[in-house]
Amino acid sequence: MYRPVTLLSISFCALSTLTSHFVRARPCVAFDIQWNLLAFGFDGKDFSAGTQDTWASGSTTDITTSGRPPFDGANTTCYLSQFANAIYVMNGDASNPASVHIYDATAKSWSTQATNTAGFDPTDATAILDHDTNVFYAISKGEMWSLNMDLLKQANSTAIDWLDNKAVEFPTDGYQPVMALAQNHIHFLNVPGSPPGSANIFVIHFSFFQPEPQSYGNFPATHGRAFDIFKNEGVQTEFAFIPDDGSATYIINVERNDTQTLPGPSTKDPLATYFASPSALVQLSPSTNSVTFFPYDPSNQGANSNAAWSPIPALAQRAVAATGGGPGGTAAAASSSSTATSAKGSSATGGATKANQGGEANGSRHLFEMAGLYAVVGLIGMMVVLL
Ligand SMILES: *[C@@H]1O[C@H](CO)[C@@H](O)[C@H](O)[C@H]1NC(C)=O
Ligand SMILES: *[C@@H]1O[C@H](CO)[C@@H](O)[C@H](O)[C@H]1NC(C)=O
Ligand SMILES: *[C@@H]1O[C@H](CO)[C@@H](O)[C@H](O)[C@H]1NC(C)=O
Ligand SMILES: *[C@@H]1O[C@H](CO)[C@@H](O)[C@H](O)[C@H]1NC(C)=O
Repeated sequence: MYRPVTLLSISFCALSTLTSHFVRARPCVAFDIQWNLLAFGFDGKDFSAGTQDTWASGSTTDITTSGRPPFDGANTTCYLSQFANAIYVMNGDASNPASVHIYDATAKSWSTQATNTAGFDPTDATAILDHDTNVFYAISKGEMWSLNMDLLKQANSTAIDWLDNKAVEFPTDGYQPVMALAQNHIHFLNVPGSPPGSANIFVIHFSFFQPEPQSYGNFPATHGRAFDIFKNEGVQTEFAFIPDDGSATYIINVERNDTQTLPGPSTKDPLATYFASPSALVQLSPSTNSVTFFPYDPSNQGANSNAAWSPIPALAQRAVAATGGGPGGTAAAASSSSTATSAKGSSATGGATKANQGGEANGSRHLFEMAGLYAVVGLIGMMVVLL
């Protein structure tokens, strides 16, 4: 005889599994050095969407393998180490926030690097990975910290120390860092008191805060996302800035000291995260489960101003699977197995900079709640029948 209590507890078990499954999805996108778009943490899997020329029609390859982080951190961010062809993942494992997960994009394998935080709070930090030295620089609670990754593509058994370099030399009260790397300088936008169109600069090689902001042209002093634009070789010399309202895409060139103003993403999402290859800016929008890109030509401003953001259909499909969202997708959402549909990319929240990731997207949470509701109704119905 079936006992209601047992059935109830089974149903609550099922529900809590569902809850953790959806709430924990914290995907991330990044490029490897051949500019394959990698998407991590989509419905418990990782994918390669291949190179930009294949995105419209291409398929995704499942690259999920052992040793990967669960991608359940609140602020997961991904970084490309161009010399090591490795992706470093911060906050990829909520239960081990101090770990840096390393994906060796050549060997396609994972390892986990331990760190000694020495007071550094990885869950409340915004970081960049310096191109030339492979050192992370992170600001947290008004201090500039660093972590030397030493060209690692595989974790070293010795933990690496976070070092407290110095206090940040501009006002940080209430400052939500907007930072990107270019020309071995960390650029901070929207610093309190600095004029629009300017950046406060930290010169990495001299561990030096420039006392005055540098002017770069026209962009608003507002919160948003900044992310560096990789080159095939050498240090990045441009970065993009997209305000939270998605009203425009600004490309700041730190050699010419100017800014291109380009169309904003078609998806406006303050929670979106970004990653850029030399020829594409990629947006992952967790609120709408969409993955879009902007074809960027560093040598043709005319082409850029006529270009537009458009979807990467394969990745959008993976993003929907990852969050259980999608139009009327409650049935699919109730399945905790991976919805590996056709072959297409995945999406993710990769940031060249560590984003101030907010909570779960409203849309997917709503869909989850609906799925939960249907599950409860269904289970109660089942119990009624069985009793
Ligand atoms: C691991 O770290 C130790 C201590 O920093 C260093 O001496 C050693 O060379 C590293 N090993 C590798 C393989 O990088
Ligand atoms: C950009 O600004 C810096 C600092 O003011 C200056 O040294 C440099 O010459 C400028 N570059 C150009 C191309 O104007
Ligand atoms: C990290 O995530 C939490 C929860 O979503 C958010 O409140 C916080 O602002 C985030 N912090 C950073 C530095 O991104
Ligand atoms: C999120 O959902 C809440 C409650 O339904 C609503 O008040 C809020 O406006 C939503 N936010 C967004 C960005 O949709």
